[in-house]
Amino acid sequence: MRLNVAGRRSVLVTGGAGYLGSVTCARLIECGYRPVVLDDYSNSHPTVIERIARLTGEPVRCIRGDVRDGALLDDLLAREAVVAAIHFAGLKAVGESASRPFDYWDVNVGGTLSLLRALDRAGVRRLVFSSSAAVYGQSQQLPLAEDSPQAPANPYGHTKLAAERVIADVAATHPDWAAACLRYFNPVGAHPSGLLGEDPRGVPNNLMPYLAQVAVGRRKALTVHGNDYPTFDGTGVRDYIHVLDLADGHIAALRHLQTNPGVHCFNLGTGAGHTVLQLKAAFERACGHALAYRIGPRRAGDVAACVADPTRAREVLGWRATRDLAQMCADTWRWQRMHPAGYPD
Ligand code: NAD
Ligand code: UD1
Repeated sequence: MRLNVAGRRSVLVTGGAGYLGSVTCARLIECGYRPVVLDDYSNSHPTVIERIARLTGEPVRCIRGDVRDGALLDDLLAREAVVAAIHFAGLKAVGESASRPFDYWDVNVGGTLSLLRALDRAGVRRLVFSSSAAVYGQSQQLPLAEDSPQAPANPYGHTKLAAERVIADVAATHPDWAAACLRYFNPVGAHPSGLLGEDPRGVPNNLMPYLAQVAVGRRKALTVHGNDYPTFDGTGVRDYIHVLDLADGHIAALRHLQTNPGVHCFNLGTGAGHTVLQLKAAFERACGHALAYRIGPRRAGDVAACVADPTRAREVLGWRATRDLAQMCADTWRWQRMHPAGYPD
């Protein structure tokens, strides 16, 4: 077992300054790990690292750099005795992935390859990977289990599926390799302290940050993308999962990999679906006022409903999501109220 000076197991966290990575770093520290962050800050702020330290009372080691830089990774892995890596670093905007396919394939697949290569060279053969429900695409059957058909509907989803494939092929080369591909459904919410949350650049693409910006007065009204879907109220159904539950899923996966080599895929979702209007109503209860909205046309590429079957994660990892929609909205609102304009620059 490789331990650092303080006797804590160090874990390399690529993209650890981002939305999901930052909250996971805080949870890692609370659970006795020592995160070593690698981030190029292309979609985050250095101040996040200070906040994780403030929140946990632990200094956080952060190296600024690109996960595609193999020499940097070699150097980092030679200096820091890490036992595993969690790979969050990536590009995640579905719409943008169609207009920037080179960048998405380069960062999401090239970045994963680069990390795998360096980990293999260093003999650190344990990886938790940020995958997505986007690998399933337009599936007819709900809820989605890990063996549901995979047919990504956009370049982003293709890159996540390809990265999963690369991980499986590399893992097959050495019996020590243990990897978990975690397929996130719709992560929302913020750290309950209000110190860490989602801070999208420009106009938010996703529903929860958009609602939060309407609530705080940064946007006039939500546009609901279609109300003629075959769902409870005609609006799209998604499986929203609290970012802290998601972070706990990573801790559970890390523990599982300690004794279970091979590649394992898990859905991280709640198993419950909510419509756009249900989420809006829940947010109104959290913020205490009505949110303006209008009904617009369907958004290209959207599915009517996307809900996880999280049975495997419960049975194999002993993990399940515990936080409900009210808590997701309350925590998002606390974060947004405390940071109406996002993280200070
Ligand atoms: P984010 O953009 O907030 O975080 C990603 C972090 O990676 C950022 O801090 C960014 O600066 C960093 N980064 C990007 N490219 C890099 C590179 N080449 N080298 C080093 N660092 C780099 O995104 P997030 O919401 O925290 O998502 C994290 C991961 O989870 C991504 O891989 C994303 O595809 C995946 N995911 C996210 C969601 C979601 O809804 N947020 C859903 C499914 C999957
Ligand atoms: C999107 C991505 C998915 C990614 C996820 C998390 C697509 C097709 N899918 O999921 O791959 O993993 O984000 O980053 O983009 N909505 C509105 N108004 C808005 C925004 C959204 O009505 O302003 C609706 C959508 O139509 C959908 C629901 O809210 O029904 C959720 O949308 P969103 O938060 O963007 O997530 P997904 O589309 O599920």
